[in-house]
Amino acid sequence: MKTVNIALCGTGNVGSSFMDLVLKNKQKIKSNFDVDFNLLLIGSRKGEINNTEFKGVLEKDILKVPLKDEIDVVVELIGGTDISYELAKSSLENGKHFVTANKALIAEKGSELFELASKNNLHIGFEASVGGGIPIIRTLRDGLISNKVNWFKGILNGTSNYILSKMYLENQTYESALEAAQELGFAEPDPTFDIDGTDAYQKTSILSFLSFNGEIQMDKIYREGINMIEPLDMEYGKELGYVIKPLSLGINYGEKLFIGSFPAFIKKNEILANVNFETNVIEINSENLNSTAYQGPGAGGYPTSTSVMNDLIDIAKGKVFDYSNLLNSIEIDNFDDFKATRYLRLMVLDQPGVVAEISKLIAEKNLSIDNLIQKEKQKSDGIIPIVIVLGECSEKVANSLINDLEELSKVKDPIQQIRFID
Ligand code: HSE
Repeated sequence: MKTVNIALCGTGNVGSSFMDLVLKNKQKIKSNFDVDFNLLLIGSRKGEINNTEFKGVLEKDILKVPLKDEIDVVVELIGGTDISYELAKSSLENGKHFVTANKALIAEKGSELFELASKNNLHIGFEASVGGGIPIIRTLRDGLISNKVNWFKGILNGTSNYILSKMYLENQTYESALEAAQELGFAEPDPTFDIDGTDAYQKTSILSFLSFNGEIQMDKIYREGINMIEPLDMEYGKELGYVIKPLSLGINYGEKLFIGSFPAFIKKNEILANVNFETNVIEINSENLNSTAYQGPGAGGYPTSTSVMNDLIDIAKGKVFDYSNLLNSIEIDNFDDFKATRYLRLMVLDQPGVVAEISKLIAEKNLSIDNLIQKEKQKSDGIIPIVIVLGECSEKVANSLINDLEELSKVKDPIQQIRFID
C-alpha cells in the first residue's frame, strides 16, 4: 500500500471540510485505491483547529510546512496570492506536489508555477480552482484531450448567478440578493471580486489555458461585472426571450480567438439560461464531440474538497501532468474586434425628435436597428427608457456609437449595453 503524507495549509470553510473528508474517507480510499492518505501536518496561522479526529502536528508558521522532509503533498486552501504564492514556490522547490483551490494563484502565477513543477517533475492539482466540485479541469485535460475546443461558455461565479437569478425569477433587488448570497457563504470574503467579475475572469483565464493550450494572458481577457444590471434590463430581456447570465466565454473562430467574462443575454431555451442560483455550468463545443455540458456546485466546502481529493488521488496514482507543455504562445485577439448583436438601453427626455436624433447617429455608423422598444407607461419625471437591439457590430464600433449617443443632450444616464450571445 502506498502512503501519501499530506500537509494542509488553511483551515477556513474549505480547509475544515477537506480535513473532515480526508479523515472520514481514509478506509474507503485504502480499499478502493490501495492508498493511505495520511494527514500529518496542518499549517494554521491561528494555531488551532476544531477537528478532534486530527492526530497530527499543527504548525503556525505556514512557510515552514514545505520544509518538512516527511511531507509528499502540500494542499493550499488559504486563498490570495501572497503567502499562497510563497508556499507554492517553496513546496515545488522542496520536492512536494502542490494542490490548490486558488484560482487567483493559478491565473496570476500559473505559468511560472507550471514551469517550476515541470523542472522538478512534480504535479500541480488545481481541479478545485474552477467550478468547485465540477470535474472540469480533468475533463478538458483528459476527457477532451483528443479534441480541439471550438468554444466554451460557462457560468463560473455562483454569487453573480445567484443574484441575477433572484432578480429574474423572484423580482428581488440586487442588494437583498447579494445579502442572501453572503449569508449562504458562497460569496468571496470581499464580494467585490464576485460582483466586479474578478472571480469569473480568473476562472475564465484558467479554462482558456486548458481549452486553447495557450499561455495565460490575463490582459487580453475582457472583463465586466454584474453590478450595472438593473431590474428593467431583466424585464426587457424577458420580453425579447432572453435571460441575463454572468457569462464566461472563450471562442476560437479559427483566425480570431476571443476570451471574455461579462453579463450577457442568453436565449431562454439554451442550457446556460436554465442554470440558476449558485449552480455553475460549463458547456464546451469541440471538434468531434459537438457540445457537452457540465453542471454542479461551484463553491462550498465539501464540493471544493471533493475536487481536492481527486487531485490527491491523481498524485497517489503517479499522474504527474506537465502543464508547462500547454504554455504555448498563442494570440488572443483584442476584444475590441469582438462582434455581437447588442442591447442598448438609453434613458432619454421624452421630447419630439429624440428617436430621430438617435437613429441618425446609428445610420451614420452604417449600423442596423433590429428592434426598438419604447413604453409610455415607463415614463417618470419626463425621462423614458428606449431599448434598441443593435445589429451585429464590433466592440470598437458599438463603443464609439455609445460615446456619440451619450453626448446628445436628450440622453440622460450612461447607456446600458448588454451583448446577446447565441
Ligand atoms: N465566490 C465564488 C462564487 C466561489 O461565488 O462562485 C469560489 O470560487
